[in-house]
Amino acid sequence: MNATPLVPLGSDRSIPQVGLGTWPLTDAEVAPVIVTAIEAGYRHLDTAVRYGNEIGVGQGIRDSGIARDELFVTTKLDGAYQGDDKAIAGLDDSLSRLGLDYVDLLLIHWPLPGRDLYVSTWKTFERLLAGGKARSVGVSNFKSTHLDRLLAETDIVPAVNQIELNPYVTRSAQREYNARHGIVTGSWSPLGQGNELLSEPLLGVLAEKYEKTPAQVVLRWHVELGLVVTPKSQTPARIRQNIDLFDFTLEPADVEAITALDRGPGAGVDSDVIGL
Ligand code: A2P
Repeated sequence: MNATPLVPLGSDRSIPQVGLGTWPLTDAEVAPVIVTAIEAGYRHLDTAVRYGNEIGVGQGIRDSGIARDELFVTTKLDGAYQGDDKAIAGLDDSLSRLGLDYVDLLLIHWPLPGRDLYVSTWKTFERLLAGGKARSVGVSNFKSTHLDRLLAETDIVPAVNQIELNPYVTRSAQREYNARHGIVTGSWSPLGQGNELLSEPLLGVLAEKYEKTPAQVVLRWHVELGLVVTPKSQTPARIRQNIDLFDFTLEPADVEAITALDRGPGAGVDSDVIGL
Protein backbone atom coordinates (compact mmCIF):
# COMPACT_ATOMS: atom_id res chain seq x y z
CA MET A 1 0.00 0.00 0.00
CA ASN A 2 1.33 3.42 -0.93
CA ALA A 3 0.97 6.17 1.67
CA THR A 4 -1.73 8.80 1.11
CA PRO A 5 -0.22 12.22 0.31
CA LEU A 6 -0.92 15.16 2.59
CA VAL A 7 -2.36 18.40 1.21
CA PRO A 8 -1.22 21.57 3.04
CA LEU A 9 -4.00 23.52 4.75
CA GLY A 10 -2.07 26.70 5.37
CA SER A 11 -0.19 27.38 8.62
CA ASP A 12 1.40 24.13 9.76
CA ARG A 13 -1.54 21.83 9.14
CA SER A 14 -2.26 19.31 6.41
CA ILE A 15 -5.04 16.92 5.41
CA PRO A 16 -4.71 13.40 3.98
CA GLN A 17 -5.79 13.64 0.35
CA VAL A 18 -8.10 10.62 0.56
CA GLY A 19 -10.55 10.14 3.41
CA LEU A 20 -13.59 8.04 4.15
CA GLY A 21 -17.00 9.58 3.47
CA THR A 22 -19.63 8.32 5.91
CA TRP A 23 -22.97 9.55 4.54
CA PRO A 24 -25.56 7.89 4.74
CA LEU A 25 -24.28 5.27 7.21
CA THR A 26 -26.02 4.98 10.58
CA ASP A 27 -24.19 4.84 13.92
CA ALA A 28 -24.46 1.05 13.96
CA GLU A 29 -23.31 0.68 10.36
CA VAL A 30 -20.45 3.14 10.45
CA ALA A 31 -18.48 1.85 13.45
CA PRO A 32 -17.20 -1.39 11.84
CA VAL A 33 -16.66 0.46 8.55
CA ILE A 34 -14.34 2.90 10.34
CA VAL A 35 -12.36 -0.01 11.78
CA THR A 36 -11.97 -1.57 8.31
CA ALA A 37 -10.96 1.78 6.83
CA ILE A 38 -8.32 2.48 9.47
CA GLU A 39 -6.93 -1.03 9.00
CA ALA A 40 -6.80 -0.32 5.26
CA GLY A 41 -4.71 2.80 5.88
CA TYR A 42 -7.28 5.61 6.00
CA ARG A 43 -6.26 8.40 8.35
CA HIS A 44 -9.00 10.88 7.42
CA LEU A 45 -12.68 10.46 8.33
CA ASP A 46 -15.47 12.78 7.20
CA THR A 47 -18.75 13.08 9.10
CA ALA A 48 -21.38 15.74 9.87
CA VAL A 49 -24.00 16.50 12.48
CA ARG A 50 -26.57 16.06 9.76
CA TYR A 51 -25.40 12.52 8.96
CA GLY A 52 -26.53 11.46 12.44
CA ASN A 53 -23.56 9.10 12.79
CA GLU A 54 -20.98 10.96 14.90
CA ILE A 55 -21.51 8.52 17.80
CA GLY A 56 -20.76 5.58 15.52
CA VAL A 57 -17.73 7.31 14.02
CA GLY A 58 -16.36 7.87 17.54
CA GLN A 59 -17.07 4.25 18.44
CA GLY A 60 -15.22 3.06 15.34
CA ILE A 61 -12.22 5.25 16.17
CA ARG A 62 -12.03 3.78 19.67
CA ASP A 63 -12.58 0.21 18.41
CA SER A 64 -9.71 0.64 15.94
CA GLY A 65 -7.28 1.46 18.74
CA ILE A 66 -5.59 4.15 16.66
CA ALA A 67 -3.85 7.04 18.42
CA ARG A 68 -5.84 10.26 18.14
CA ASP A 69 -2.95 12.23 16.73
CA GLU A 70 -2.62 9.85 13.77
CA LEU A 71 -6.13 10.65 12.61
CA PHE A 72 -7.72 13.59 10.81
CA VAL A 73 -11.43 13.97 11.68
CA THR A 74 -13.79 16.41 9.96
CA THR A 75 -17.31 17.29 11.03
CA LYS A 76 -19.79 19.84 9.72
CA LEU A 77 -22.23 21.98 11.67
CA ASP A 78 -25.63 22.30 10.05
CA GLY A 79 -28.11 25.13 9.89
CA ALA A 80 -29.46 24.62 13.40
CA TYR A 81 -26.13 25.87 14.73
CA GLN A 82 -25.82 29.01 12.61
CA GLY A 83 -25.96 32.46 14.22
CA ASP A 84 -25.88 33.74 17.83
CA ASP A 85 -22.73 31.81 18.75
CA LYS A 86 -24.71 28.56 18.57
CA ALA A 87 -21.68 26.99 16.88
CA ILE A 88 -19.86 26.96 20.24
CA ALA A 89 -22.42 24.59 21.77
CA GLY A 90 -22.74 22.83 18.43
CA LEU A 91 -19.07 21.89 18.36
CA ASP A 92 -19.17 20.79 22.00
CA ASP A 93 -22.15 18.54 21.18
CA SER A 94 -20.28 17.03 18.21
CA LEU A 95 -17.17 16.44 20.32
CA SER A 96 -19.19 14.71 22.99
CA ARG A 97 -20.89 12.47 20.41
CA LEU A 98 -17.52 11.69 18.81
CA GLY A 99 -15.82 11.19 22.19
CA LEU A 100 -13.02 13.53 21.10
CA ASP A 101 -11.64 16.72 22.57
CA TYR A 102 -10.94 18.37 19.21
CA VAL A 103 -11.74 17.92 15.54
CA ASP A 104 -9.12 18.51 12.89
CA LEU A 105 -11.53 20.36 10.63
CA LEU A 106 -14.89 21.98 11.32
CA LEU A 107 -17.02 23.08 8.35
CA ILE A 108 -20.15 25.19 7.94
CA HIS A 109 -22.20 22.53 6.15
CA TRP A 110 -24.33 24.81 3.92
CA PRO A 111 -24.33 28.59 3.47
CA LEU A 112 -28.15 28.90 3.66
CA PRO A 113 -27.97 32.41 2.17
CA GLY A 114 -31.70 32.94 2.67
CA ARG A 115 -31.06 33.02 6.42
CA ASP A 116 -28.00 35.26 6.03
CA LEU A 117 -26.24 33.89 9.11
CA TYR A 118 -23.11 32.42 7.59
CA VAL A 119 -20.92 35.51 8.09
CA SER A 120 -21.73 35.72 11.79
CA THR A 121 -21.32 31.94 12.09
CA TRP A 122 -17.89 32.26 10.48
CA LYS A 123 -16.91 34.88 13.07
CA THR A 124 -17.82 32.31 15.75
CA PHE A 125 -15.70 29.74 13.88
CA GLU A 126 -12.75 32.12 14.09
CA ARG A 127 -13.10 32.05 17.88
CA LEU A 128 -13.45 28.25 17.90
CA LEU A 129 -10.20 28.04 15.94
CA ALA A 130 -8.45 30.23 18.48
CA GLY A 131 -9.82 28.02 21.29
CA GLY A 132 -8.20 24.91 19.80
CA LYS A 133 -11.23 22.60 19.70
CA ALA A 134 -11.21 22.92 15.92
CA ARG A 135 -7.67 22.73 14.53
CA SER A 136 -8.76 24.11 11.14
CA VAL A 137 -12.02 25.67 9.97
CA GLY A 138 -13.67 25.75 6.58
CA VAL A 139 -16.91 25.65 4.68
CA SER A 140 -18.93 23.33 2.49
CA ASN A 141 -21.18 24.05 -0.48
CA PHE A 142 -20.04 27.69 -0.62
CA LYS A 143 -20.22 29.50 -3.96
CA SER A 144 -17.89 32.34 -4.87
CA THR A 145 -20.51 34.91 -3.89
CA HIS A 146 -20.66 33.48 -0.36
CA LEU A 147 -16.88 33.28 -0.08
CA ASP A 148 -16.55 36.86 -1.36
CA ARG A 149 -18.47 37.99 1.71
CA LEU A 150 -16.34 35.96 4.13
CA LEU A 151 -13.18 37.35 2.56
CA ALA A 152 -14.47 40.93 2.73
CA GLU A 153 -16.11 40.86 6.17
CA THR A 154 -13.98 38.47 8.29
CA ASP A 155 -10.33 37.86 9.10
CA ILE A 156 -9.63 34.18 8.41
CA VAL A 157 -9.74 32.50 5.00
CA PRO A 158 -11.48 29.09 5.08
CA ALA A 159 -8.94 26.26 4.89
CA VAL A 160 -11.28 24.09 2.81
CA ASN A 161 -14.40 24.41 0.68
CA GLN A 162 -15.94 20.95 0.31
CA ILE A 163 -18.32 20.86 -2.66
CA GLU A 164 -20.16 18.37 -4.81
CA LEU A 165 -17.58 17.45 -7.43
CA ASN A 166 -17.17 14.51 -9.80
CA PRO A 167 -16.71 14.04 -13.57
CA TYR A 168 -20.35 15.01 -14.20
CA VAL A 169 -20.09 18.10 -11.95
CA THR A 170 -16.54 19.39 -12.43
CA ARG A 171 -16.97 22.91 -10.98
CA SER A 172 -13.97 24.35 -12.79
CA ALA A 173 -14.77 28.01 -11.98
CA GLN A 174 -15.24 27.23 -8.29
CA ARG A 175 -12.04 25.18 -8.22
CA GLU A 176 -10.14 28.08 -9.74
CA TYR A 177 -11.66 30.57 -7.30
CA ASN A 178 -10.76 28.36 -4.33
CA ALA A 179 -7.19 27.88 -5.59
CA ARG A 180 -6.76 31.62 -6.21
CA HIS A 181 -7.63 32.31 -2.57
CA GLY A 182 -5.55 29.46 -1.09
CA ILE A 183 -8.65 27.41 -0.23
CA VAL A 184 -8.30 23.63 -0.63
CA THR A 185 -11.16 22.11 -2.60
CA GLY A 186 -12.72 18.93 -1.22
CA SER A 187 -14.98 16.71 -3.36
CA TRP A 188 -18.18 15.25 -1.94
CA SER A 189 -20.00 12.56 -3.93
CA PRO A 190 -16.68 12.02 -5.70
CA LEU A 191 -18.01 8.83 -7.32
CA GLY A 192 -21.36 10.39 -8.25
CA GLN A 193 -22.86 8.33 -5.40
CA GLY A 194 -22.03 5.17 -7.34
CA ASN A 195 -24.78 5.72 -9.88
CA GLU A 196 -24.46 5.77 -13.67
CA LEU A 197 -21.13 7.60 -13.62
CA LEU A 198 -19.22 4.41 -12.88
CA SER A 199 -20.78 2.75 -15.97
CA GLU A 200 -19.52 5.45 -18.36
CA PRO A 201 -17.88 3.67 -21.33
CA LEU A 202 -14.86 6.00 -21.16
CA LEU A 203 -14.19 4.92 -17.59
CA GLY A 204 -14.42 1.28 -18.63
CA VAL A 205 -11.82 1.85 -21.34
CA LEU A 206 -9.50 3.71 -18.97
CA ALA A 207 -9.96 1.09 -16.25
CA GLU A 208 -8.71 -1.52 -18.69
CA LYS A 209 -5.85 0.69 -19.86
CA TYR A 210 -4.58 1.34 -16.32
CA GLU A 211 -5.60 -2.08 -14.93
CA LYS A 212 -7.70 -0.38 -12.26
CA THR A 213 -11.46 -0.17 -11.60
CA PRO A 214 -13.63 2.69 -12.93
CA ALA A 215 -13.93 3.98 -9.35
CA GLN A 216 -10.15 4.08 -8.98
CA VAL A 217 -9.84 5.94 -12.29
CA VAL A 218 -12.37 8.54 -11.07
CA LEU A 219 -10.67 8.90 -7.70
CA ARG A 220 -7.27 9.24 -9.36
CA TRP A 221 -8.77 12.01 -11.53
CA HIS A 222 -9.63 13.90 -8.32
CA VAL A 223 -6.08 13.34 -7.08
CA GLU A 224 -4.57 14.59 -10.37
CA LEU A 225 -6.65 17.79 -9.99
CA GLY A 226 -5.23 18.30 -6.48
CA LEU A 227 -8.58 17.74 -4.77
CA VAL A 228 -9.18 16.18 -1.37
CA VAL A 229 -11.54 13.29 -1.90
CA THR A 230 -13.80 11.41 0.53
CA PRO A 231 -15.46 8.42 -1.17
CA LYS A 232 -18.04 6.53 0.87
CA SER A 233 -18.07 2.76 0.88
CA GLN A 234 -19.22 0.20 3.39
CA THR A 235 -17.83 -2.69 1.35
CA PRO A 236 -14.42 -3.83 2.64
CA ALA A 237 -12.94 -4.59 -0.80
CA ARG A 238 -14.05 -1.19 -2.14
CA ILE A 239 -12.84 0.61 0.98
CA ARG A 240 -9.38 -0.84 0.30
CA GLN A 241 -9.60 -0.16 -3.43
CA ASN A 242 -10.58 3.49 -2.94
CA ILE A 243 -7.35 4.38 -1.17
CA ASP A 244 -5.14 2.29 -3.45
CA LEU A 245 -4.53 5.13 -5.90
CA PHE A 246 -0.89 5.97 -5.57
CA ASP A 247 0.88 3.44 -7.79
CA PHE A 248 -0.37 4.93 -11.08
CA THR A 249 -0.99 8.30 -12.74
CA LEU A 250 -3.40 9.32 -15.49
CA GLU A 251 -2.02 10.83 -18.67
CA PRO A 252 -3.05 14.51 -19.06
CA ALA A 253 -5.18 13.67 -22.12
CA ASP A 254 -7.12 11.13 -20.06
CA VAL A 255 -7.65 13.67 -17.26
CA GLU A 256 -9.05 16.04 -19.90
CA ALA A 257 -11.29 13.36 -21.39
CA ILE A 258 -12.76 12.57 -17.96
CA THR A 259 -13.28 16.29 -17.29
CA ALA A 260 -15.18 16.48 -20.59
CA LEU A 261 -17.90 14.23 -19.09
CA ASP A 262 -19.07 17.41 -17.31
CA ARG A 263 -22.80 17.97 -17.65
CA GLY A 264 -22.65 21.75 -17.64
CA PRO A 265 -23.19 24.57 -15.16
CA GLY A 266 -26.72 23.42 -14.28
CA ALA A 267 -25.49 20.04 -12.98
CA GLY A 268 -25.29 19.36 -9.26
CA VAL A 269 -26.84 21.09 -6.28
CA ASP A 270 -27.34 24.86 -6.16
CA SER A 271 -26.64 25.96 -2.61
CA ASP A 272 -28.40 29.27 -3.20
CA VAL A 273 -31.53 27.15 -3.42
CA ILE A 274 -31.03 24.17 -1.14
CA GLY A 275 -29.20 23.38 2.06
CA LEU A 276 -29.62 21.86 5.49
P1 A2P B 1 -21.00 0.76 -1.15
O1 A2P B 1 -20.97 1.67 0.02
O2 A2P B 1 -22.15 -0.19 -1.12
O3 A2P B 1 -19.69 0.05 -1.40
P2 A2P B 1 -19.95 8.73 -3.28
O4 A2P B 1 -18.73 8.62 -2.42
O5 A2P B 1 -19.76 9.44 -4.57
O6 A2P B 1 -21.15 9.24 -2.51
O7 A2P B 1 -20.33 7.22 -3.72
C1 A2P B 1 -20.74 6.25 -2.77
C2 A2P B 1 -21.42 5.11 -3.49
O8 A2P B 1 -20.48 4.49 -4.40
C3 A2P B 1 -21.89 4.01 -2.57
O9 A2P B 1 -23.11 3.53 -3.08
C4 A2P B 1 -20.80 2.94 -2.67
O10 A2P B 1 -21.32 1.65 -2.48
C5 A2P B 1 -20.33 3.12 -4.10
N1 A2P B 1 -18.91 2.80 -4.22
C6 A2P B 1 -17.92 3.19 -3.40
N2 A2P B 1 -16.73 2.72 -3.81
C7 A2P B 1 -16.96 2.01 -4.92
C8 A2P B 1 -16.13 1.25 -5.81
N3 A2P B 1 -14.83 1.18 -5.60
N4 A2P B 1 -16.72 0.64 -6.86
C9 A2P B 1 -18.05 0.73 -7.07
N5 A2P B 1 -18.89 1.42 -6.28
C10 A2P B 1 -18.35 2.05 -5.20
